[in-house]
Amino acid sequence: MLNIVIFGPPGSGKGTQSEKIIEKYGLVHISTGEILRKEIKDDSDLGKIAKSFIDKGELVPDQTIIEILEKKLESLSNVKGVIFDGFPRTVDQAVALKKMLQRHGEDVNVMLNLEVDRQELIARLLKRGQVSGRSDDNLETIEKRIRVYEERTFPVIDFYKKEGTYTPIRGVGEINDIFKRISDAIDAVKV
Ligand code: AP5
Ligand code: MG
Repeated sequence: MLNIVIFGPPGSGKGTQSEKIIEKYGLVHISTGEILRKEIKDDSDLGKIAKSFIDKGELVPDQTIIEILEKKLESLSNVKGVIFDGFPRTVDQAVALKKMLQRHGEDVNVMLNLEVDRQELIARLLKRGQVSGRSDDNLETIEKRIRVYEERTFPVIDFYKKEGTYTPIRGVGEINDIFKRISDAIDAVKV
């Protein structure tokens, strides 16, 4: 299997590039943000819990997220690989993912870190906020999301550096140019 973690701060293009990756490489896309937004829309118990964190720009507790991931992974069979988008977001989540995959004799093959500066992130998300209807796409919550990223998610980079799979990708410019950088990085991985 080809297992990819697409990583980066809010607005760095994880969702945008994931769509192109699944199309080219035939992978299953798992976005924890999308799963949670679906639960909120369905007004489920999980959705109610998730909303209280997402609306404030905070992370949903690790245990909740890890259970969602476990369920999702167990439901897959015969897949070419998975792209993890928005997960792991803490070092504990990264450790949990490694253990989950290990049970199936798998591992993360490459971690792609989309590098985008803060001003560009804010500009992108404010622009999207005009049309997305996402409750966390407003200036106050965007700034909080970026702070939470810096404090809790940034350390995940070191985890993957130690794993030897860390790959920085310049995440600014044309979407197709960024995708070319990503494809080159994926093609360089031998699985
Ligand atoms: P999540 O849904 O993962 O949101 P995020 O990380 O804040 O990132 P976004 O989805 O906003 O951005 P993206 O990087 O996908 O960029 P996109 O392609 O959309 O998480 C939301 C919340 O859920 C979290 O805050 C947390 O509360 C909770 N959560 C989720 N996962 C969790 C976890 N594992 N643990 C705990 N809590 C969790 O692009 C952004 C915009 O820019 C778009 O409008 C796009 O069109 C545009 N754009 C993309 N590329 C370019 C480009 N090259 N040039 C110009 N514009 C571009
Ligand atoms: Mg996204």
